[in-house]
Amino acid sequence: MKRPNGLVIAIDGPAGAGKSTVAKLVAKRLGYLYVDTGAMYRAVALKALRLGMDIGDPVTMAMLAQATDIQLLSQPDGSVRVMLDGEDVTEAIRTPEVSEAASIVSAHEGVREALVAEQRVLAESGGVVMEGRDVQTVVAPDAEVKVFLTASLEERARRRWQELRQRGTEIPYEQVLQELRERDERDQQRAIAPLRKAPDAVEIDTTHLSPEAVVEQIVALAQRCQHLSAKD
Ligand code: DC
Repeated sequence: MKRPNGLVIAIDGPAGAGKSTVAKLVAKRLGYLYVDTGAMYRAVALKALRLGMDIGDPVTMAMLAQATDIQLLSQPDGSVRVMLDGEDVTEAIRTPEVSEAASIVSAHEGVREALVAEQRVLAESGGVVMEGRDVQTVVAPDAEVKVFLTASLEERARRRWQELRQRGTEIPYEQVLQELRERDERDQQRAIAPLRKAPDAVEIDTTHLSPEAVVEQIVALAQRCQHLSAKD
C-alpha cells in the first residue's frame, strides 16, 4: 500500500524500553512526524486532574476526551510540543502523578475511541513514526514497519530514574522500580489494549544497545520496506 507522505512506522514496548527516544530520532532521520500517542492520553489525564474530575469514571472521561483539543506540533529541531486546548503542556504531562492517571484514563474505552480516531487521521497519509500501546494492532494495523522494543526491568527503571532526576524529580531508584513493575502488570493485564507484541512486529532488546544503534536497525527496516515497495 502506498501513502502520499511515506511509511507508517509503529513502535511499542513497555515503559522505559526507549520508545520515545528512539521514535523521535527515527522521525528526525527520515523527516517524518513523530506521533506520541501516550502524550495524548497524558494530556487528557492532566486536564482531568486539574479540573478535579473522577478519573475512574468512564463516562465523564470519555466526554472529556471528546471535548479536548490536542495538537502535536513538530519543531524545526525534530522535537514535538504537546498542546492541550492551546496551552503547551509538553513538560507538565511528564510527572509521576500524570503517568499514574494516564494509565487509568487510557483504560476507558470511550477515551480510546476518541483518541484513536484522531490518531488514524494522522496515520492515513503516512510519513509518521507512531509510538504507543495499540498503534500496531488498532490504530495502524497496516503499518509497514512494526517494532517492539524491550529491555530488562532493572535497566528500564534505571533509565526512568535518570530521566526524572534530570527533570529535577528526586525519588529513590527502588520506588521507580516498584512503580514500573506495578505499571507493567496493569498495562499487560488490562482488558482493553493490553501491552502485547504484534505477531508481525520485529522485537529489539535495547538493554545493551545505544539509542543510535536501535535507530540504525529501524531505519534499515524502513529502507528495506521502501525498496521492496518501489519494486511493486
Ligand atoms: O507511553 P506513555 O507512558 O507516555 O503512556 C501513558 C499511558 O497511556 C500508559 O499507561 C500507557 C497508555 N497508552 C495507551 O493506553 N495507549 C497508547 N496508544 C499510548 C499510551
